[in-house]
Amino acid sequence: MKALLCAEYGPPQNLTVQDVPSPKAGPGQVVVDVKAAALNFPDALMVQGLYQVKPPLPFTPGAEVAGLVKAVGDGVQGLKAGDRVIGFPGTGGFAEECVVAAEKIMPLPENMDFATGAALVLTYGTSLHALQDCGRLQPGETLLVLGAAGGVGAAAVEIGKAMGARVIAAASSEDKLALCRRLGADETIDYATEDLRKRTLALTGEKGVDVVYDPVGGSYTESALRAMAWRGRLLVVGFAAGEIPKIPLNLALLKERQLLGVYWGDSVRQDPRGHVRNMKQLMAWFAEKKINPVVSEQFPLARASEAIQRLLDRKVKGKVVILPEA
Ligand SMILES: NC(=O)c1ccc[n+]([C@@H]2O[C@H](COP(=O)([O-])OP(=O)(O)OC[C@H]3O[C@@H](n4cnc5c(N)ncnc54)[C@H](OP(=O)(O)O)[C@@H]3O)[C@@H](O)[C@H]2O)c1
Repeated sequence: MKALLCAEYGPPQNLTVQDVPSPKAGPGQVVVDVKAAALNFPDALMVQGLYQVKPPLPFTPGAEVAGLVKAVGDGVQGLKAGDRVIGFPGTGGFAEECVVAAEKIMPLPENMDFATGAALVLTYGTSLHALQDCGRLQPGETLLVLGAAGGVGAAAVEIGKAMGARVIAAASSEDKLALCRRLGADETIDYATEDLRKRTLALTGEKGVDVVYDPVGGSYTESALRAMAWRGRLLVVGFAAGEIPKIPLNLALLKERQLLGVYWGDSVRQDPRGHVRNMKQLMAWFAEKKINPVVSEQFPLARASEAIQRLLDRKVKGKVVILPEA
């Protein structure tokens, strides 16, 4: 079977598609025939050796997939060959087949296609955990989302609306902001051309926002923090801009603002029941048409490195999906 291989950490152009032996399902494992695998920023960091998780080389990137069960290992119950599933292998997804631990498999709903199923778990799981479990976002509160047309950002816009918040979406182009409006954003800010702090304050009658969702970092973080209301919560989700900001802590003391770290992967390990609850919530919202992941581009496996480079070049909207059999 074919798989994308990272033989040494480096730019995406170094990745190659190779023929490798088909994986076998060990005890408690499932082999998935991958129909779609979604790309996430951590994949782009991982192949460069810049992510907190550094898989031993060589490895195949790709954290989340949707497809059909091909084989089940000893001790796996409730799954059989041919079942439509979503899987979260963490790595190994950009391949025709991949191995997933049975507890990281869930059914793909009848009315959900493979690309959508692959694109749902990581970004929507992260954004729901961030806004609900960490940020305690309340109906009627105002939420500012940075990088709002990206993977986790677009999910935060939709989930913020589903939770009853007023959503201000900030991104770097009109094209990206148009997508945010389609997803339900009430207001938009082009932070490439507008002053993020001044515009946010103007849009909230100088009160500031209650919650900031920040997957971008860099200079935007402090501007957003300065535009937060009394007891506002800043959700530290990621640093796609490449720079981890250093924040003067008097900005937290003033207005009793809170800085809250979000680490979805570890939260799933710490609280597996909470994760299952959140996934059920997301599936219910999908059925009610309150959320619907935007899959803006689909690439064959042979062009996966091109897709990763587009993500790093800030050219992607919503999610990109790799189709191993295309
Ligand atoms: N904490 C967690 O549990 C968790 C979980 C998942 C992801 N993350 C992190 O969240 C961040 C976003 O992930 P994602 O998958 O949503 O990525 P993405 O789809 O590429 O979105 C990132 C957004 O960041 C903005 N950005 C600003 N400067 C950038 C730059 N120099 N390069 C690339 N993007 C830049 C872009 O929007 P504009 O062009 O509009 O600025 C882009 O849409 C990453 O740092 C990722 O590691 C964290």
